[in-house]
Amino acid sequence: MTDSANTKRRTPSRPVFRVGTAPADPAALFVRQNAVPRSFSPGRPIEQRRLLLAGELVPWQGRTVDLFSPVEIRTPTGLVHLRLGSRPEMGGRDALRMLAAARKAFDEGRGAWASAPLERRISALSEFACRLASLKEPIVRTLMWEIAKPHAELEDEFDRTIESIGRMIEIARKRERAARIVKREKGILGLIRDEPRGVALCAGPYNYPLFETFGLVVPALLAGNAVIVKPPRIGALFFDLLLEALAAAFPPGAIQVLSGDGRAVLEPLMKSGGIDVFAFIGSLAVADRLINLHPKKTRLRTLLGLGAKNAAVILPDADLDTAVHECLLGALAFNGQRCAALKILFVHKDVRAAVLDRLIAETAEVGIGMPWTPGVRITPLADPARIPYLRALVRNAVSRGAEIVNANGGRTAGSIFFPTILDPVGRRMTVYKEEQFGPLIPIVPFNRAAEPVAYLRESSFGQQVSLFTADFKTLGPLIEAASPHVSRINLNAKCQRGPDLFPFTGKKDSARGDFSASEILRTFSDRTVVAARDAASGRALLGKFLSSTGRLDIPEGTKR
Ligand code: G3H
Repeated sequence: MTDSANTKRRTPSRPVFRVGTAPADPAALFVRQNAVPRSFSPGRPIEQRRLLLAGELVPWQGRTVDLFSPVEIRTPTGLVHLRLGSRPEMGGRDALRMLAAARKAFDEGRGAWASAPLERRISALSEFACRLASLKEPIVRTLMWEIAKPHAELEDEFDRTIESIGRMIEIARKRERAARIVKREKGILGLIRDEPRGVALCAGPYNYPLFETFGLVVPALLAGNAVIVKPPRIGALFFDLLLEALAAAFPPGAIQVLSGDGRAVLEPLMKSGGIDVFAFIGSLAVADRLINLHPKKTRLRTLLGLGAKNAAVILPDADLDTAVHECLLGALAFNGQRCAALKILFVHKDVRAAVLDRLIAETAEVGIGMPWTPGVRITPLADPARIPYLRALVRNAVSRGAEIVNANGGRTAGSIFFPTILDPVGRRMTVYKEEQFGPLIPIVPFNRAAEPVAYLRESSFGQQVSLFTADFKTLGPLIEAASPHVSRINLNAKCQRGPDLFPFTGKKDSARGDFSASEILRTFSDRTVVAARDAASGRALLGKFLSSTGRLDIPEGTKR
């Protein structure tokens, strides 16, 4: 897309609605189909009728399911969810056919992809990245209709995905270079190499269908595994645009794409015992259920990104403008539908009134509306079925003494849930413990720092925390107190995953394994050592082995 096209596209067709002053008529936040700006139009429905199996795009003649946008369209009879198309509804047998293709391609590590030199895999990944880059406009537009994420944020997600492929390639090269150096220790020579683990099942989440899904798929492929990818429940249709690129870039069986209900396709795969790595981002309940189906759980390698309920702690000496600004970014970006979102705010009683005033004023100014409108942060929920759950959380909190303190808080309009500040929230309320994954901002007033620390200790989650203070005397002990319970402590800043080279993991029920670019390749690899005595015969054997593989050589410094 050219700059001028960008500028043109970003010109709002009408003023952005603000949370605090949004029109009373719910329908006013939505538009008629013919009022959608042409460059964001959903276009013709995508009727997916093919599957990627063993390197071929095979026609699908079985059952299909219709997919609808969370974005509603105004019609003379009311708001209607737009039909986006349909996708194959695979069953267990179809999934097992994909598994058979993946196992055949892997061929116990002897398959073409598994045994290919790293540079061969890198050239396939690079070809895929080029083809992906050329599909930016339709993929971003399709995803916008599928999950209702603001268009500009989807463009960022897309660029981040392309960037992460390049980064992953560089890291794989570095690891490969390190593996060429013969280690010498206590009279033993050793070559320590990464071997692919087998068949990797990768399942990404609906809030980042592209970045998080390919954040699993790319390292799994780079490491030489055969991959089966399960697109998220919401945000699956855009995969149809990718099937040709995947088929063209990778050899048969290196990657297959499932299409179907999670339970129907994932359970038979796990029960079969044919999955070697399970890389999953979703709920703990689903992860537990699926892992427990695997007949050889100890052999199964898992990489899990699960729930989180990240807290912010605002201390009396914090810069309140920064604290409130960061907390709202953390709580409301993409309607709070981020695993790293701030989902509960602990506010010291000395600054409670000042923080609430600022939160209320700033929330009122947050843009709300359609995902193509520049400047909106609140859009329809990707999963409108969560609205009753959010309402129940609000009802429960109010029945136990909390108040909705902001203008339009608690309101819904179609699939839009207005940001809702709840104050004061206490431990008897459901929203104190459960992950809302929506635009609720629970405020917990506190007197002593021990109170938020107790929350971190008692919570079943353990991803991140944000601490807001200018005083290191308070901060140092708080960092130490928080460290056993969370994996990242953000100082005067919201919680987030990036930069993507930093560890991204969690304690307790929040994660297993590290998703960062620098660590994730380990999950998809098995370290294998070829060792010999550091004597003439051992050195000769190792030297011959190195020259025969074509994958490795002894660098000058280590030859004797
Ligand atoms: O949903 C969880 C995301 O991985 C968090 O990433 O902090 O960049 O939104 P983000």
